[in-house]
Amino acid sequence: MAKLTVRDLDVRGKRVFMRVDYNVPLEERDGQMAITDNTRIVETLPTLKLLIDKGAKIILAAHLGRPKGKREATMSLRPVGLKLHELLGRSVAFATDCIGEVVEKAAAHMKDGDILLLENVRYYNEEEANDPVFAEKLAKVADVYVNDAFGAAHRAHASTEGVARIVAKRGGFAAAGLLMERELKFLGDELENPARPFVVILGGAKVSDKIKVIDRLLEKADTILIGGAMAYTFKLAHGVKTGKSLVEPDHTGTALAAEKKAIERKVNFQLPTDTIIATPVDTGKLNKKGKPVYDLTNIRTIRGDIPDDAEGFSIGAETAANYARIIQSAKTILWNGPMGMFEDPRFAAGTNAVAQAVVDATQKNGAKSIIGGGDSVKALNKAGLGDKVTFMSTGGGASLEFLEGAVLPGVAALSDKK
Ligand code: 3PG
Ligand code: MG
Repeated sequence: MAKLTVRDLDVRGKRVFMRVDYNVPLEERDGQMAITDNTRIVETLPTLKLLIDKGAKIILAAHLGRPKGKREATMSLRPVGLKLHELLGRSVAFATDCIGEVVEKAAAHMKDGDILLLENVRYYNEEEANDPVFAEKLAKVADVYVNDAFGAAHRAHASTEGVARIVAKRGGFAAAGLLMERELKFLGDELENPARPFVVILGGAKVSDKIKVIDRLLEKADTILIGGAMAYTFKLAHGVKTGKSLVEPDHTGTALAAEKKAIERKVNFQLPTDTIIATPVDTGKLNKKGKPVYDLTNIRTIRGDIPDDAEGFSIGAETAANYARIIQSAKTILWNGPMGMFEDPRFAAGTNAVAQAVVDATQKNGAKSIIGGGDSVKALNKAGLGDKVTFMSTGGGASLEFLEGAVLPGVAALSDKK
């Protein structure tokens, strides 16, 4: 059933408790935490602008990182408040806590259209535990609840689920923000009856991470293109040698079952025909995380067996060209997961070729291209192509679970449209 959205609400003078996903990547620069990717903040601006126009008092709640109940200074939302101020061109007040007197006092002084950002909700363990007492404390300043945090909607936490239920129980509204609405539209409704051919590109490290998505999309897609380290488990399942490549021997059966289902459903299910491999040589050094550092030597393309001392890092040029040709004739494209280790330029060509084909299909063929979040979004942005597709999800885990067909707790808790 369709959910109520911010557009349906009359919020003038009301305190709108809005959950956002401001879990943005940060890095330390001269002793300060600096945001390295603003996307998740930028994507909430339309909802914020609408609520400002409607005269709401906006109280923003979010998590950052996984501080596990501790006040980790590096995970404060303060830098996010400064960035939001800069992007919105309006002042954004900051509360050093997410519950209690600090918040209630600040909320009491708000005027219509004001914005108050609360400190990291995960400074309390009760957030992830979805503790009802904690949720009540958060809900103290909530006349209306809005969820624009699609990226955190797979979590049944106090600020993503508990508060929504409390507000609804009081007879108030719990509504989707505009970003949440867009995410549900593109990852949900748009893929229900896709224009055909519907081509799905799935990559990433593990078959076990993607099997539910593969299974569900085998019901809908015309073609599924497989890449990334996941492909090596398929190789293994066919008795091909995989050397030192990342594989999941326990999931060869899963891989074969997917191929069998593809045949039954007449889905064109494609695996890479060539692979870029390298021979890792231990340098004897350790990285920052204490893991051994390897030099990747003798980079080459092979078909078939991967030698015992070598490891696969990407699809090869032949596979990339074949996939690109298929993608270019698609009318609907869903892409989740890179084709290889795109972070390293030596292994980025396959992923970049797929990215370019997705863009070409969108720009020249009028295809709808939907990028399922996480690393594929990073890869597109890295290639400078982020703005040339139809939709890029702000969710990682959330988009995957949603594509699997799961009901997201943060969505389920919202009020139904009457
Ligand atoms: C994310 O970045 O994936 C979301 O913000 C959820 O964060 P989490 O995985 O720490 O719950
Ligand atoms: Mg996550």
